[in-house]
Amino acid sequence: MLPSRVSLVDVGPRDGLQNESRLVASADKIGLVRRLQAAGLREIEVTSFVSPRWVPQMADHAEVLAGIDRPPGVRHSVLVPNLRGLETAMAGGPGRWPDEIVVFGAASEAFSRRNINCSIAESIERFAPVAAAAVQAGIKVRGAISCALGCPYEGEIHPDAVERVVRLMREIGVQHVGVADTIGTGTPRRVQAALERALRHYPIEEVSGHFHDTYGQSLANIYASLELGVSHFDTSVAGLGGCPYARGATGNVATEDVVFMLQGLDIETGIDLDALVDAGVFISDLLGRPPVSRVARALLARRSASAEGHTA
Ligand code: HMG
Ligand code: MG
Repeated sequence: MLPSRVSLVDVGPRDGLQNESRLVASADKIGLVRRLQAAGLREIEVTSFVSPRWVPQMADHAEVLAGIDRPPGVRHSVLVPNLRGLETAMAGGPGRWPDEIVVFGAASEAFSRRNINCSIAESIERFAPVAAAAVQAGIKVRGAISCALGCPYEGEIHPDAVERVVRLMREIGVQHVGVADTIGTGTPRRVQAALERALRHYPIEEVSGHFHDTYGQSLANIYASLELGVSHFDTSVAGLGGCPYARGATGNVATEDVVFMLQGLDIETGIDLDALVDAGVFISDLLGRPPVSRVARALLARRSASAEGHTA
């Protein structure tokens, strides 16, 4: 039986924007977060406290975290690669701390080096004090495992490699793991195999899927995850996104497309699809291109047809 309720983390303000070469104003990032909150998102990844030399688009992380509204019941997360990132993320004082941090490792050695400039073992050494300090402060710690299905440098990744990182993350106190298909080459059975390795070490509510839609497999992969009982997914409004260190990888699966599929399965998300489409239009207009989301495009076409008096 599929879960009756699913939680979506909209990673649009972070994963969605990090790859954009034209700088988006901090006020517009804050405006996007506000629109996602209004659409009913209860988990939003707002920025990342990484080096501005590595990811210039995220250089305004402190302004964005300080500037967003903090309505009760909404969990705001940020990426943190090291202790310095955590210290900066916490510099605004307890009322402005992120609710959750994400440490991000990889199941591929080559990708780990390209993305965070260290081996997998070194990354875990770096994350250990970060996780301990965050937990001590009452901040939840998620771990993202990039290239869990495929790597732009190493090719297909075996589930053993995923399980190795899952185990290491568990040992250092990471409370939730996300199985990330960075380049979107995963297909349903392989996604299940990777998730099953995470489920050996984490309870089902602490395992999530993060699927980039480069090969159009994400909805099928989410359905395959639901079949296992997994009910947490990262998605990105308008289908924005990509990783600067995984060339050619496109955005995350669009939040609109996932919500539409889940509505059709009678699975509750608490998200208002029309308001979500508006949030996607807001950021897509700023970026000067239409939403990648197929559902958003279809609903927008229907809106304009009905405004012109046609039915679509
Ligand atoms: P490094 O060069 O090994 O580290 O980078 P370093 O300690 O030698 O520092 C180098 C420079 O960065 C120094 O500045 C530090 O001060 C600065 P410089 O003296 O050269 O001017 N620095 C920092 N600045 C701000 N905040 C910090 C920080 N730390 C050092 N926290 C480092 C190591 C991890 C910092 C770097 O590799 C980095 O920032 N990488 C981030 C890459 C990234 O953000 N990738 C995209 C996010 S991951 C992703 O998208 C995947 C995911 O979506 C899941 C999936 O789809 O797979 C999560
Ligand atoms: Mg990603």
